[in-house]
Amino acid sequence: MREVREDKELLLEAAREVAEALVEAGGNAFVFTGAGVSTESGIPDFRGPSGLWRRIPPEKFTIEYFHANPLEVWRLYSELYRSMSGAKPNEAHYAIARLEALGLIQGVVTQNIDGLHQAAGSRNVIELHGSGSRAVCLECGFTDSIERWLVKVAGGVLPRCPVCGGLMKPAAVFFGEELPREALRRAFDLAHAARVVIVVGSSLTVYPAALVPEEAARRGARLYIVNLGETSLDWMAEIVVRARAGSFLPLVVGEAERLLGRG
Ligand code: APR
Repeated sequence: MREVREDKELLLEAAREVAEALVEAGGNAFVFTGAGVSTESGIPDFRGPSGLWRRIPPEKFTIEYFHANPLEVWRLYSELYRSMSGAKPNEAHYAIARLEALGLIQGVVTQNIDGLHQAAGSRNVIELHGSGSRAVCLECGFTDSIERWLVKVAGGVLPRCPVCGGLMKPAAVFFGEELPREALRRAFDLAHAARVVIVVGSSLTVYPAALVPEEAARRGARLYIVNLGETSLDWMAEIVVRARAGSFLPLVVGEAERLLGRG
């Protein structure tokens, strides 16, 4: 494993190596993202120096705590959603969308619920932790845009399903909940076929999501990690880039376009 810090020359050299690996993989590659890809859009991550879990106890986002204190959790979620819904994609999101448009990656597997990959133009986005802008009934599975339920919560009214009267919950996956099966299946399909996987902005501490890049690397894919902090898979990576995703990924795109003669 080679570690590269924010040194212009070294970053360019690393970007060239990642671009060459992507071109060589002929499209059998994917990007795996976490909250760190969205911090440059103003959305805090969870475990970084100013991470969310330093302000809000993560226990409040377990499914058990939600059942016991639904209105409190809805109110907490409301605050987070407000900070998320105004955010715009940053250079990292656009670079990932460009790699897909160039045919160098199959798509992006994300743990994020902020919808910024889609907003940046990524087409194949696999959301392992659901979407932040939906609500779901825990009884009958009715789903709906979350907006009108946040209005009820602001008025102190607990969101109840219009179909069966069951408790409505933000559709983002809470701790202790199953991940969406279809998303998991699609993510592991990418992991099994990949010859290159790039992890961007994730501490790789939450399972089963973190199993996706691990599975790809165990099956022989070359692993590249772009993350300011340490991750649990650094030891498996060809290169670990300790730089901001928004600075590094556009360098990879530039090198890839040069190699493809698309500059
Ligand atoms: N560029 C590169 N890395 C960054 C940047 C950036 N601009 N900003 C932050 N990081 C890194 C941090 O150093 C940190 O290691 O991104 C990582 C984000 O890790 P976490 O905060 O643990 O977020 P994530 O890995 O997505 O968490 C996974 O945990 O809380 C649950 O469901 C939640 O989806 C989330 C899951």
